[in-house]
Amino acid sequence: MKLPSRRILALFSVAALVVSACSNSTTTNVPGSTNAPAGAITQVEVVSWWTTGGEASGFNAIIDKFNADNPTIKVTNSAIAGGAGSNAQTALTTRVVNNTPPDSFQVHMGHELLDNYVTPGYMDNLDDLYTANGWTTQFPQGVLDIVSAKDSAGAVHYYSVPLDIHRANVLWYNKTVFTANGLTAPTTWDQFFTVADALKLKGITPLAVGDNGIWTNGMLLESILISTLGADGYNNLWKGTPDWASAKVTDALNTYKKVLTYVNTDHSSLSWDQAADRLIPASAGAQPKAAMTIMGDWAAGEFDAKTFTDYGWAAAPGTDKIYDALADSFGLPTKATNKDAVKKFLTLLGSAAGQDIFNPYKGSIPANKTAGTPPAGAKQYSTYQTWAMGEWKGDAIVPSVEHGAAASPKWKGAFEQAVTMFVTNPDVPTAQTALVQACKDAAVCS
Ligand code: GAL
Repeated sequence: MKLPSRRILALFSVAALVVSACSNSTTTNVPGSTNAPAGAITQVEVVSWWTTGGEASGFNAIIDKFNADNPTIKVTNSAIAGGAGSNAQTALTTRVVNNTPPDSFQVHMGHELLDNYVTPGYMDNLDDLYTANGWTTQFPQGVLDIVSAKDSAGAVHYYSVPLDIHRANVLWYNKTVFTANGLTAPTTWDQFFTVADALKLKGITPLAVGDNGIWTNGMLLESILISTLGADGYNNLWKGTPDWASAKVTDALNTYKKVLTYVNTDHSSLSWDQAADRLIPASAGAQPKAAMTIMGDWAAGEFDAKTFTDYGWAAAPGTDKIYDALADSFGLPTKATNKDAVKKFLTLLGSAAGQDIFNPYKGSIPANKTAGTPPAGAKQYSTYQTWAMGEWKGDAIVPSVEHGAAASPKWKGAFEQAVTMFVTNPDVPTAQTALVQACKDAAVCS
């Protein structure tokens, strides 16, 4: 897979960081190392938030493979439910700050990794793994840029291993419902409203949303901002120009307000996967509760895991040829206890073989450019994923705010607060004022 390193470099951009790498490795307990008791099983605790559908099956599949190949090590996934890490991230930060981190954990590349963990000095660098495995040429430059930081002498160090690349801006729909009603996937928000009105008349909820974690609604606004401002405009928003007071942001909020009138009334009690499942009929031939959802492509993993094949997809309205990207990665906390064993596991995660075990379940595409062809007999990439691999090569790449790439964790939090208020009381001027202030508080806008 050839990846657009120039575009991703520009658009996934994160300011170069100067950090002082610190390493005060604790005990290693690996067979062959001096302090490993003979015959001991080395426990490796990994924390993710993958508890459902394709997410859980994909991660379990790669862990099972590792444990089978390494009988003296046992990797365990201490998963914490809550999409987008809405619960896991708080728990992880507490553990890391209290010097009791798991041996490795799921973290989004970009600001989430760098601002939360690397800059404060909580992570070991993985330069030796990058060199030994040739990863500096196997991962796209734009990915390398946001898993790395410079030390005070200007040398680049790598801090996590990317496992996948996801697309956040995808519209999913029930194909039978669309065909039966003579509808096609909307490519603009105006078309979306026409399609949504037709669906409403048929008694079907147009757009399923599950925002018991507010990130799903934030992601909806993210997609609308991308469509209203275009790739460059959206990207520049996170650099403070155009500023958040601009007319385009007002337009986006007005569109968002209207979109919210087409969603299920019980949205706040559903998780993202429960909302996606609304597209699946309760029984063959039955009408599903909803016809569309806008969700990252982990939804493909969810549908596939539920053996639901009657789904179609398109870029979220107005975002064709723009890939709203994010990536999951795993690193090595400085206070991890079983570093040699963790590095072995990370080696599998970064390898083409490992990525071709995990990603076919997950709905994502591999981050390693040499991956993409699982061996015969293994689970293969889906039609959606083949489409996504093609789009990734040609699209403009923009960073997702809800998944840690576009803005600092603090700014993301303030963005989510504005969204939470808006969902309860969709007042455009109030929300825009909050978004303007959030950019100022992030010290990006003056
Ligand atoms: C994202 C994560 C994806 C998927 C999704 C839903 O933040 O990157 O891998 O897990 O949340 O939980």
